[in-house]
Amino acid sequence: MSPVLSLDVPVRDGALVPYANLDYAASAPCLEAVSRAVAEALPAYSSVHRGAGYASQLTTTRYEQARHTVKAFARARTDDALVFTRNTTDAMNLLARSLPEGTTVVVFDTEHHATLLPWPAPVRLAPPALPGEAVRAADEALAAIEGPALLVVTAASNVTGELWPIAGLAHIAHRHGARIAVDAAQLAPHRPLNVAALDLDYVAFSGHKLYAPFGAGVLIGRRDWLERAEPYLKGGGATVAVGEQTEWQSDVEARHEAGTPNVLGAIALAAACDHLSRSGWTGLIEEEDRLLTRLRTGLAAIEGVHELALWPADHPRVGIVSFVVDGYTAREVAERLSADHGIGVRDGKFCAHPFVRHLLGANSGSAVRASIGLGSTEEHVDRLLTALRRLTEVRG
Ligand SMILES: Cc1ncc(COP(=O)(O)O)c(C=O)c1O
Repeated sequence: MSPVLSLDVPVRDGALVPYANLDYAASAPCLEAVSRAVAEALPAYSSVHRGAGYASQLTTTRYEQARHTVKAFARARTDDALVFTRNTTDAMNLLARSLPEGTTVVVFDTEHHATLLPWPAPVRLAPPALPGEAVRAADEALAAIEGPALLVVTAASNVTGELWPIAGLAHIAHRHGARIAVDAAQLAPHRPLNVAALDLDYVAFSGHKLYAPFGAGVLIGRRDWLERAEPYLKGGGATVAVGEQTEWQSDVEARHEAGTPNVLGAIALAAACDHLSRSGWTGLIEEEDRLLTRLRTGLAAIEGVHELALWPADHPRVGIVSFVVDGYTAREVAERLSADHGIGVRDGKFCAHPFVRHLLGANSGSAVRASIGLGSTEEHVDRLLTALRRLTEVRG
């Protein structure tokens, strides 16, 4: 039985077919286990932290337990903070607002906009031709900076799925006395995270890419910058006392989580983390690799289909593949796949405009992205390959 909720969708002839969801990198389908956890929490849900009623106490316990579970999933250090945010974008913006005065941010042009744009006047590095060059470029850039510095990098590209050398980058950052923040939005659903072992200072990811519904994400990391920063949201819960002057919470989580939090989102995210931790990563990675190889080999065999990659084809990657099809715009391909075959893919520049421009060339348009994960099947992959073969033959 599939671990994720399934869906039937209409195709052009009016028939309903099982949805071939190949759009996990945008939002992964909800896990059955997540759906059950949310259903269980619904009858008792109540406002957290400030209520004496039983439901409020129970919900507070579940919310704080969720924090604990997600932290354990990320293997964060015991004294790390975990702030629940809306998503990765929100988490990166929170970090950007918490930078000590004078911090220089170094970021690669390959980033998703969530991780490229929040920083004031960052040093932007060109897409490196090889993983080792990423480390060399970061080394050089950080060496030239005086004062506090933060290197920001994605762990797995949302365009190519390629895994970035975050252990090496963390090492280099620390050698220069800088910190590193990692965008793990696409890594967390596919590989075990280990914040402590990798010595990452900050990590962000989103529930909706991790088999939980929308609206919850996290920023995990060192407390000191967050402790000293202005509260990200100002309002109830972030204060100790309000009079002429406002005294803000020093507790990082309370300081930055003003207002009523997304308790169900946090519970859902924690249930997904719990499911992934319990399922064991080895089987998940093996199955994903098997399907990914089938998909990439199949794409390579279709004349007129070209996969996008920054690094050599055998560089390790998660279950994400972007490609272009000669003679069709990406939107045409995506629309045909949906209308004729019940296949969901993403088309566009994937909120990574500089990177996609780099991969495609300045004047070219967009690409198609297929992405897989828990619950993906051979049939989904083969349906895509058959559909693309037909499309390229018709164009023939
Ligand atoms: C690598 C990466 N970072 C950040 C984001 C932004 O995530 P969210 O939209 O959940 O904030 C995405 C979303 O596609 C992503 O793929």
